[in-house]
Order: sequence, then C-alpha cells, then structure tokens
Amino acid sequence: MQKSKLSKQLSAALLLAFLSTVPFLLAARGEGSTQAETQKTIDPAAWGSNHVGKPTPEYVTGDECLFCHRNDIGPTWQKNPHALTVRSRENALDLQSTIKAQPTLRAIAPQVEFFLGSRRHIRFLKQEGYGRFAILNLRAERGSAGKIEKWIDLEKPSWDKEKFANRCAGCHATAVDPANKTFSAFSLDCYSCHGAVDLDHTKDTSLVLLSKKRRREYQVITSLCAQCHIRIGASRSTGLPYPNNFVAGDNLFQDFAVDFSKADDAGLNAGDRHVLRNVRDLALYGADSPTCLSCHDVHAASSLKHRRLPRTRICSDCHEAEGPLKTLKPFTVHSKLCEY
Ligand code: HEC
Ligand code: HEC
Ligand code: HEC
Ligand code: HEC
Ligand code: HEC
Ligand code: HEC
Repeated sequence: MQKSKLSKQLSAALLLAFLSTVPFLLAARGEGSTQAETQKTIDPAAWGSNHVGKPTPEYVTGDECLFCHRNDIGPTWQKNPHALTVRSRENALDLQSTIKAQPTLRAIAPQVEFFLGSRRHIRFLKQEGYGRFAILNLRAERGSAGKIEKWIDLEKPSWDKEKFANRCAGCHATAVDPANKTFSAFSLDCYSCHGAVDLDHTKDTSLVLLSKKRRREYQVITSLCAQCHIRIGASRSTGLPYPNNFVAGDNLFQDFAVDFSKADDAGLNAGDRHVLRNVRDLALYGADSPTCLSCHDVHAASSLKHRRLPRTRICSDCHEAEGPLKTLKPFTVHSKLCEY
C-alpha cells in the first residue's frame, strides 16, 4: 500500500537533507569491501502520516486493557521496564527507604514522590502541577543486585522544574501534549506502543497494532520503537529531543530528524548502536528485516530468540565478527540525553 504513495510524497528537500548526512560507503558497514560503493537509500519520510499539529488522541488506558488482558499481559507487565520507568513511591518502597537512609538527603527525601529509571540508573521526581514533574539533579547507580551502589552529585540536591518537560517527558511518560508539554500519564502506558486502540479488536485482532496478524509491518514497528529508542534525534517542529505528538502507526521520520551516520560511529555504545543500525537498515536502506521484534519479545522482556537469526553485520555490534558467537564484546550503555 505504501509503495504507490512513495514517489508522490517524495520530498526533494528532505531527500537532499538526508543525502548530505548519509555516508555512502558500503565499506563503512563492514561488509568486507574496501572499495567505496554507493548505498542505495530511500526517503524514510515517504510513507504514512503523522500527528504534528493535530490533537492528542483519546485513548483506552492500561487499566481498561488489563481488565481484559489480566491473564496474558498482566502478570509480566508489572515487571516490565517500560511499565516501571517511572514509579510512585508507594510502588518503590526499596528505593524510598534507601534515600531516607542517606544522611545528606534527610531533608529532601520526603519531597521525592516518584522514581525514574528501573534497571541501573535512578532519578528522583516530584509532581509540579498537572502532567509535570520537577527532577532532582542528583542520580543513583544500582549494582547487579539492585542495591544503590553509587551516588552522583549528592552534595547539593536541587529541583529543576523545566528539565523533565523539555528533555525527558516524551519517552518516560505517555501522550505528551506538545502545547504545554504535559503528559497524560506517568511511565509508559499501552498507548505508547499500541496507539489509540479500537475496542472492536476483540472480534478482529487485525484492528490492533502489534497483534499476531500485524507483526510484519516493519516500517510501522520500526517507527514506533524508534520514537524513544533513538536517543540522538530531534523534532523538526519543536526542536525537542523527543517526537512531537507521535502516535504509534505514524511515520516517525516525517518530523523527527536523525543523523544515521552515527550507526558507524564506534564510539557509540553497542546498546544504542545496534538500534540505530537496525533503524537505518529498515528506514533508510529499505531492508524489511530483521525488526526489533525479530530479536526482542517486549512483554516477556527477553531477547533469547535473537540467537536463531543468521549472522549479519548487526551481530558484530555485540559479538566478534568472526569465531564463536559465545564471545561477546563487553559494552556499557551511556546516554548524554538521559544523563548517565
Ligand atoms: C514511549 C517510549 C518507548 C517506546 C515506544 C518503546 N520503548 Fe523500549 N524502553 C523505553 C525506556 C524508557 C526503557 C528503559 C526503562 C527503564 O529501565 O527505566 C526501555 C527499555 C527497553 C528495553 C530494555 C529492557 C528490556 O525489556 O529488556 C528493550 C529491549 C526495549 N525497550 C525494546 C523496545 C521495543 C522493541 C520497542 C517497540 C516495540 C520499544 N522498546 C518501545 C522506552 C520506550
Ligand atoms: C528520545 C527518548 C528519550 C528521552 C527524551 C529521554 N530518555 Fe531516558 N531512556 C530512553 C530509553 C529508550 C532508555 C532505555 C535505554 C536502554 O536501556 O538501552 C532510557 C533510559 C533512561 C534511564 C536508565 C534506566 C535504567 O535503569 O537503565 C534513565 C535514568 C533515564 N533514561 C533518564 C532520562 C532523563 C533524566 C531524561 C531527561 C533529561 C531522559 N531520560 C530523556 C529514552 C529517552
Ligand atoms: C514498549 C511497547 C509496548 C507497550 C508499552 C505495550 N505493548 Fe503490548 N505488545 C508489544 C509488542 C512489541 C507486542 C508483540 C509481541 C511481543 O513482542 O511481546 C505486543 C503484544 C501484545 C499483545 C498480544 C500478545 C500475544 O499473545 O501475542 C497484547 C494482548 C498486548 N500486547 C497488550 C498490551 C497491554 C494491555 C499493554 C499495556 C498494559 C501493552 N500491551 C503495552 C509492545 C508493547
Ligand atoms: C473488553 C475486553 C478488552 C479490552 C478492554 C481490550 N482488549 Fe485486547 N483483546 C481482547 C480480546 C477478546 C482479544 C482477542 C483474543 C485474544 O487474542 O486475546 C484481544 C486481542 C488483543 C491483541 C491481539 C492479540 C493477538 O492474538 O494477536 C492485542 C495486541 C490487544 N488485544 C491489545 C489491547 C490493548 C493495548 C488494549 C487497551 C488499549 C486492549 N487490548 C483492550 C479483549 C480486550
Ligand atoms: C539482531 C537482533 C536484534 C535486533 C534487530 C535488535 N536488537 Fe536490541 N538487543 C539485542 C540483544 C541480543 C540485546 C542484548 C540483550 C541482553 O543484554 O540480554 C539487545 C539489547 C537491547 C536494549 C538494551 C540495551 C541495554 O543494555 O541497555 C535495547 C533498549 C534494545 N536492544 C532495543 C532495540 C530496539 C528498539 C530495536 C529495534 C530498533 C532493537 N533493539 C533491535 C538484539 C537485537
Ligand atoms: C545488542 C547486542 C547483541 C546483538 C546485536 C546480538 N547479540 Fe547475540 N548475544 C548478546 C548477548 C548479551 C548474549 C548473551 C545473553 C543472551 O543470549 O541474550 C548473546 C548470545 C548469543 C548467542 C548464544 C551464545 C552462547 O552460546 O552462549 C548466540 C548464538 C547469538 N547471541 C547470536 C547472535 C546473532 C546471530 C546475532 C545477529 C543476528 C546477534 N547475536 C546479535 C548480545 C547481542
């Protein structure tokens, strides 16, 4: 369905912008060729539509979804990092007692109402009016056992009222209203990935994104995961580091500018690099697989199925290019945007 629209919507200006940022060296992709070859690219913005300038859609909330999906999705959802990325203090008693026990934080600890981050890095939040958080400058690092092992900038705790709205909300909260940068729910609701779900899907599952019938929609899937997992992009319309009113199903690249050449930057950690490479292969180079879902089971929070795939360039972001796949290149995930 998208192919016919492709030529019509191909915007010359956009294409030029991309041509100037993309390195056309196949050699740089590590395919073993030393000769510079032209990498064919397509216009990532050519298919579909977006919600820039449109109202934020009404959506069915996770509580409603989980009423029916309590047995299939409910049990794992409570432990999913997407659900846990922002937690109220009632749901994070371990972290709450840790900050209370920290002498330097005795005065400020009672103000902390929410925790941001789940697996390794934790930030501290409090409500700042409707749909807004203030964020504390200091951060904590968890060790493998989940205990906080290191504090950064502990000395002078202070609240920033603007940062969360300007730099974090789009990827750590749900349905951010672009006009005032308020979120409709903290943490990530089903809406973030499944979009505005039609309740008639109970009779026809092809009406809901990411159903078994719709897992081959590689462009849609890539856009919807990339809305948060590309941490080096910016919205053209707002200038913010997260997308403007993205609704799952949209084409991310119509408004979100990404420098794909960073996928060849060995300085980028393998966590972010394999994402960028995968998105570039699909959105810019026109591949149709693998998608994020070929390797990741989001609700099971597992990547075990990735082991079955044929060995291609993306494997060497994490494994040695040759030899047994048991050997991993160690990597640490950092992000300037997420401040860790
Ligand atoms: C609205 C933003 C958002 C969207 C959309 C999103 N993610 Fe995430 N994802 C996050 C954040 C934030 C974290 C880290 C949560 C934390 O630890 O605090 C995360 C963590 C992860 C992790 C690591 C944790 C784990 O479960 O193993 C994987 C893998 C992942 N996401 C894959 C995906 C895939 C695949 C998609 C698309 C189907 C997707 N994400 C869509 C924001 C998002
Ligand atoms: C473009 C989307 C995006 C924006 C904007 C963003 N984040 Fe993130 N953040 C993510 C994703 C995706 C992950 C998970 C990455 C991974 O695990 O590889 C993440 C992970 C984190 C984590 C680590 C979770 C863990 O325990 O591993 C913290 C803490 C965090 N972000 C804080 C912030 C803060 C603070 C801001 C604003 C200053 C911010 N983020 C802005 C997408 C974003
Ligand atoms: C971070 C993205 C993301 C979020 C948030 C999310 N899902 Fe999903 N969901 C997926 C993906 C991707 C699949 C496809 C299978 C998989 O990877 O687990 C899926 C599959 C499903 C399925 C089909 C499961 C099956 O048996 O095939 C249901 C039902 C579902 N999700 C419900 C929910 C509900 C309810 C919520 C909110 C409580 C939710 N999802 C939140 C990404 C997400
Ligand atoms: C009134 C009950 C009900 C509500 C509310 C509901 N669902 Fe469903 N959902 C179903 C039924 C019934 C099916 C079809 C049977 C099945 O596969 O579970 C289904 C199927 C699905 C599927 C496809 C599963 C597959 O096998 O491919 C997804 C994804 C999904 N729902 C997500 C959601 C999300 C996200 C929400 C909230 C926005 C939601 N559902 C709300 C009852 C509900
Ligand atoms: C070829 C398989 C493959 C593809 C395609 C793939 N991933 Fe991954 N990804 C992995 C594996 C394997 C890991 C490591 C999991 C682990 O550490 O247990 C991983 C790790 C991650 C992490 C966690 C990084 C960290 O440690 O903080 C995130 C987030 C992630 N992937 C998101 C994505 C997204 C989003 C896409 C699609 C754009 C994607 N991945 C595509 C295989 C893949
Ligand atoms: C983002 C990093 C990442 C990427 C990309 C990645 N892997 Fe892995 N791989 C891992 C990690 C981490 C493990 C160990 C834990 C696990 O299996 O999830 C692993 C384990 C494996 C194993 C099991 C090795 C053993 O015997 O213990 C195989 C096989 C494998 N990967 C194959 C692949 C193939 C094939 C690709 C490319 C299609 C690939 N991997 C891409 C991170 C990655």
